[in-house]
Amino acid sequence: MVEAARWAPSSSNLQPWCFLFSYKNDPAFSAIFSAMVSFNQLWVKTAPVIGLALGITHDPKGNPNNSYLYDLGQAVAMLSIQAISEGLYVHQIGGFDRDAVATQLNIPLTCSVVTAFTVGYRGNPEVLHPNLLKLELSPRRRKPLDEFVFDGSFGNKASFL
Ligand SMILES: Cc1cc2nc3c(=O)[nH]c(=O)nc-3n(C[C@H](O)[C@H](O)[C@H](O)COP(=O)(O)O)c2cc1C
Repeated sequence: MVEAARWAPSSSNLQPWCFLFSYKNDPAFSAIFSAMVSFNQLWVKTAPVIGLALGITHDPKGNPNNSYLYDLGQAVAMLSIQAISEGLYVHQIGGFDRDAVATQLNIPLTCSVVTAFTVGYRGNPEVLHPNLLKLELSPRRRKPLDEFVFDGSFGNKASFL
């Protein structure tokens, strides 16, 4: 998974990312878990691993890197797809207190805590809290393509759709 992330493309090949992993029952896992909103704690508690996706906000010359978020997102996408091909699953998480995590895990100011993610095997949904079970079993939804794939001019449904 991290090898897949390593090969993600990035602006000027700056690779503006770091990943910090924590394992269940370790202090780092507890620190990240405690910083999560209670909704996320309901299901994250069963995960064996929580990772943090960190973005390096500036280039080596000290200038802001305007594409660090885009690049980090691509690296996480690669990591997630690789996870699935290894029989694992990644669930990304934005609902947590990033400042608390940064302080407790000694994350330098050069890095922005962007997202957390769990890594694990898909479990039996029946063990989920009832509020989560409904979500888990509801159909996955996405916008239709004609809402966001255009040609010619903005808003014009692409002719190949
Ligand atoms: C940046 C980001 C933040 C997310 N934050 C959370 C979160 O805090 N809690 C959660 O349960 N899911 C979170 N998700 C998961 C999304 O809710 C999920 O990808 C989306 O609902 C689509 O779900 P599906 O792929 O199962 O259809 C997050 C996903 C991303 C990419």
